[in-house]
Amino acid sequence: MRILTGLKPTDNQLHLGNYFGAIKPMMMLADKFQDAEIFLFLANMHGLTQLHDGNQLKQNSINILKLYAACGVDLKRFIIYNPADIPGHAQLNRVLTCLTHMGFMERMHSYKEALDKGTAKEISVWVFCYPILMAADILLYDADIVPVGKDQKQHVEYARDIAIKFNNKFWETFKIPEPYIKPEVWTILGIDGRKMSKSYNNYIWLLDDEKTILKRVKQIPTSTQTVEEPKNPDECNVYKICKLFLTPEEDKELRKRYEAWGLSFKDAKEYLYEKIIAFLMPIQKKYAEISDQEIIDLLHKNAEKVNELANKKIKDIYKKIWFSL
Ligand code: ADP
Ligand code: TRP
Repeated sequence: MRILTGLKPTDNQLHLGNYFGAIKPMMMLADKFQDAEIFLFLANMHGLTQLHDGNQLKQNSINILKLYAACGVDLKRFIIYNPADIPGHAQLNRVLTCLTHMGFMERMHSYKEALDKGTAKEISVWVFCYPILMAADILLYDADIVPVGKDQKQHVEYARDIAIKFNNKFWETFKIPEPYIKPEVWTILGIDGRKMSKSYNNYIWLLDDEKTILKRVKQIPTSTQTVEEPKNPDECNVYKICKLFLTPEEDKELRKRYEAWGLSFKDAKEYLYEKIIAFLMPIQKKYAEISDQEIIDLLHKNAEKVNELANKKIKDIYKKIWFSL
């Protein structure tokens, strides 16, 4: 079985929401399917639709992969690669684009949103074609499972539809991929109580220093309840974030402290701060130990192996559509 997903390197940092919402579920999936091959690639061609600074895109890509490794992703098992090293992505993308109709693409949520906002004329042509770009990434490797956030579900469905259409027209060629949508419970809240996101400035970066983390934790809004009053942990943003770092026993203990009297929000924030530090410091230490060159070397090494697979698939596809004479 093959699990495949892409990382869009539009930023050079990852936040706690990315860890608990993307990295951790990916590691859990890898644990669950011990025999699966796991392909993790840089969606940098997709990143180019938003970020037109090649140097930045390169540095972001390296930083993000270093962060994945620092968080415990085993780069001996996960096959990381750069599609820019694999011509098969562009080749398949070209074939699929020729076979896909405008009407089919116009159903895409993100394009419809751009139409509603009146920005459809300003988006890159490749934003309009984005699902085809993703379909090529997925179908080129006969992926079985594609873990993505809820916002990407429609794109994987496009890949399925494109594969089914191709198979019906030209012969069985592509495996039909299944999206794996991370459970909703894994939506991590930011310090303002909304979903943690780069867009809301409510995040804690995995590489934030202690001073910044303390400042961010202090900014979490709390109710006006006094120390003496028992509190409902489920209504407290400090608790909701803290819960991510607790063992079941610690969680039980903390809930008890909330529900009894005597816990101030200052105490709760101090406890959260300590938990975040204990979690992030080992990640930061590991991150500092990984060099950029190690990641670059690994990407180059893996490119050979991945190219072999991709070339074989492209050969088969070209044969099916009579491109090979
Ligand atoms: P952002 O909203 O900060 O721009 P991205 O869209 O780059 O985050 O998300 C990258 C990955 O991290 C996706 O798989 C997404 O589902 C996951 N993710 C981001 N923020 C959260 C969050 N607050 N809770 C859970 N998962 C998240
Ligand atoms: N679009 C995905 C995102 O924004 C990244 C991505 C590109 C991807 N190609 C993919 C994910 C193929 C899964 C499979 O997060």
